[in-house]
Amino acid sequence: MSNISKVAVITGASSGIGAALVKAFREAGYGVVANSRSIAPSADPGIVAISGDISSPETAERIFSEGVARFGRIDTLVNNAGIFTAKPFTQFTAEDWAANIGTNLAGFFHVTQHALRRMEAQGSGHIVQITTSLVDQPINGVPSVLASLTKGGLNAATKSLAIEYASRGIRVNAVSPGIIKTPMHPPETHAALSGLHPLGRMGTMQEIVDAVLFLEKAAFVTGEILHVDGGQAAGHW
Ligand SMILES: NC(=O)c1ccc[n+]([C@@H]2O[C@H](COP(=O)([O-])OP(=O)(O)OC[C@H]3O[C@@H](n4cnc5c(N)ncnc54)[C@H](OP(=O)(O)O)[C@@H]3O)[C@@H](O)[C@H]2O)c1
Repeated sequence: MSNISKVAVITGASSGIGAALVKAFREAGYGVVANSRSIAPSADPGIVAISGDISSPETAERIFSEGVARFGRIDTLVNNAGIFTAKPFTQFTAEDWAANIGTNLAGFFHVTQHALRRMEAQGSGHIVQITTSLVDQPINGVPSVLASLTKGGLNAATKSLAIEYASRGIRVNAVSPGIIKTPMHPPETHAALSGLHPLGRMGTMQEIVDAVLFLEKAAFVTGEILHVDGGQAAGHW
């Protein structure tokens, strides 16, 4: 497509932050390869929709083979697909474990391997993880070890990959949200969730999109965990 110069892969693209990222990257002139399990084909020729579970290596392979077939290159990967299971530690089930490790960690691993091989061949690229400030500041009353375990792993991997790939023209960053108004949180929970932020409100999807777009343009920033969390990670309040 002649009017597309850059291409972004966005996982978890059917809902919430991922859907908002697809819209924003398209408005910025990117071609977008959009994945989720239930994602519908798009009428926009600048979007390739790849349905499939991101924990599967086969889904990761299709995202890149079909994305490159359509657009010829991949410049950016946003590892946004994620699930959140809050419960007391001893109540987590084997299914909770498998789902959280599968989506949040295996989903990052397979697709990021493909991205880095492609970006290395191109000599440039940018990868962004969407994590959570619960990693830095667990909240009494929100027991969520599997979120900390998986998203904390992504924060650590962000720094590790930033160093491993810096000399090859590839940047790796993360956005660490507070609690964001997405379909993950029913409206009746919003008042209580607002109180879990020093700034006294939930974040918006646009605020997370703005952070990703800032990192996308910030050529001297790599290995950064950018907290967009109303002050949660700063300390107690
Ligand atoms: N909302 C918050 O307060 C908050 C806070 C901190 C971090 N985050 C992180 O931000 C990211 C987006 O969250 P959100 O609030 O926008 O969530 P959301 O509205 O629930 O959307 C999640 C997206 O991920 C997709 N998805 C889930 N499991 C998947 C899988 N196995 N394979 C492929 N796609 C999968 C879903 O689509 P399908 O069902 O079609 O697969 C959906 O598109 C997540 O990583 C989340 O952990 C959110």
